[in-house]
Order: sequence, then C-alpha cells, then structure tokens
Amino acid sequence: MSLPKIFVTRRIPDAGLEYLRDRASMEIWTECQPPPYEIIREKIRDIDGLLCLLSDRIDKDLIEAGRSLKVISQMAVGYDNIDVAAATARGIPVGNTPGVLTDATADLTWALLMAAARRIVEAEKFLREGHWQTWEPMVLLGADVTGSTLGIVGFGRIGQAVARRAKGFEMRILYYSRHRREAELERSLGVEYASFEQLLQESDFVTIHTILSDDTFHLFDRPQFEQMKPSAILINTARGAIVNPEALYDALKTGQIAGAALDVTEPEPIPLDSPLLTLPNLIIVPHIGSASYKTRSQMALMAAQNLVAGLMGERLPHCVNP
Ligand code: DGY
Repeated sequence: MSLPKIFVTRRIPDAGLEYLRDRASMEIWTECQPPPYEIIREKIRDIDGLLCLLSDRIDKDLIEAGRSLKVISQMAVGYDNIDVAAATARGIPVGNTPGVLTDATADLTWALLMAAARRIVEAEKFLREGHWQTWEPMVLLGADVTGSTLGIVGFGRIGQAVARRAKGFEMRILYYSRHRREAELERSLGVEYASFEQLLQESDFVTIHTILSDDTFHLFDRPQFEQMKPSAILINTARGAIVNPEALYDALKTGQIAGAALDVTEPEPIPLDSPLLTLPNLIIVPHIGSASYKTRSQMALMAAQNLVAGLMGERLPHCVNP
C-alpha cells in the first residue's frame, strides 16, 4: 500500500521528521524563506496532508484547491493564518501544538519585561559605543519590577504562566479576559479580575496573551494608549496585529507610555525602514517565544502526530475545529 503524500513547508526539528519518515511520503521545503503562496497552492493539489507554519497563509482558495487533502497540521499554538471555517466546511481537521510552548513563551515574556524595565538593550549599546566613563548616579535608570502592578490581557495557559512568574516578584496582578476564571484559580495565582479599562489605567506593565481574532485586531490603539500610565511598559509575545503599530509609535515617541518590548510585529518580519526601529525605548526580537531546543522539538513531534492521526482518519490529539 502506498504511503500518504504530505508536504512540510519548512525543515522542522528531527523529532517531527523521524515520526513522519515511515508513515508518509514526505516532501520538505528546504529553502530558508517560506514557500510562496503559489507553490503551496500547486503542492496542495495532490497531497493528503499539509504540515505548515504560522508564516504560511492557508486561506479558503488554497484549502479548496486541496482536492485530496485530509488534514492540516500547524506547528504552532496560534492558527490565525489558517481559515479554519473553510477547512471545517470541507471536513478537514486542523491541528495545533498547545501546552508545550507555554513555559518557553512565558519565560521570553519575562525576559522582555525585565529587559525593558531595566533598559538592558540600551545599556549594552551605551557600553559598546564607549559611553561608560564612570559609575553614573543618574544614567540608565529604569522601572522597578518588584512590587509593581502587572496587567495580563488574555488569561489562558501562557497568561497564567506569566502570572506564576510575577508572583515571585511580589507584584499586584490584574488580568482581563472575556471570561472570568474560577475563584480558586484566582486565589492560587494571586490575581484580580479587572475590566480592560481598569487594567490599562492601573498597570505598570501590560502584557498581551490573547489570540488574534476579529475582536482583538488592533485591540491596542490610540484610545488604549491614552488610558495607560506614562510610566507603563507594554509587552507583546502574542500576535503583532493585536497592536496598531502606528499608534504604538506615536505613544512611544510622545512619551504617552514609557516603553515596549515586542516578540511579534505587524507585519512580520518588520521592515527595516519601520519608524519603530528608530525608537530607543522599544525592544523587538524576531518571534522567538517558543525558540528553545526542547520546545521546538516537542512542537515538531506534536505537529507530526496530529498530521498522522488525520491521515489515518483518526481524531487529532489537538484539533482546533469547532
Ligand atoms: C505559536 O505557537 O503560536 C507561537 O507564536 C510560535 O511558537
């Protein structure tokens, strides 16, 4: 019996490829850049399974072109790049990789929060540029993290993991999400539920952990920055389009807020001539929230397992279709 045909849109960690090797006839896109849309469209015509990444746009047209497509498996927890409704309409399950990247992403959030608060990137640049002449009582002062107020927007796995880290810094922790969590969870994490407005007005640090959807597109725009403290720092490790980049630029440039640190941008990659890159009070890293060896291996294996389950007509271990 011939093996099902799959297309893997980038080289992924070995744990995933090993799992797939004897279970599918696999074509892997090995270029550094993602396959162009037209290439995926051409490949999808005669494959049974697609293993894709968040940088691949998997829209309705493409899904409809996949005449024998049985499963789409994304190596990421977020899947806003995939038209899940179109896949569902064709009976195609879509898989993702929740859970395994929670701690890595919360760790990076914390690294960015600390780096922005204590101006680590600016300080390092200051040193390399030869400005370190003596111990300075007034230079490169930053914000205190311990004892300050953290606002967490979106309180799923990653938001909660960030709250656990904040507890160790004796922070007051506010969270906002569409649904209030059970009292027991709130108590154990030491968090208070707040309205979005209250969170914006009272937080020293605001960190975003919500999904990107029609409801959260540009959730952070001019009116939201107007409500934040001038000393506030915004962290985004979720999806770039949750923040309006022009409004963020103005808020940082005019001192409406003190700083920001982003792992995600709109668009990705951020163009090198983006005005945001001229700002000293902004740190940007290239979407590396889950980029630890262990995490990426686990994500690759999970994506491979979802894919194979779909090829065999079984329920995906992690399926996002409603
Ligand atoms: C995800 O999985 O959605 C992250 O953004 C990348 O790891």
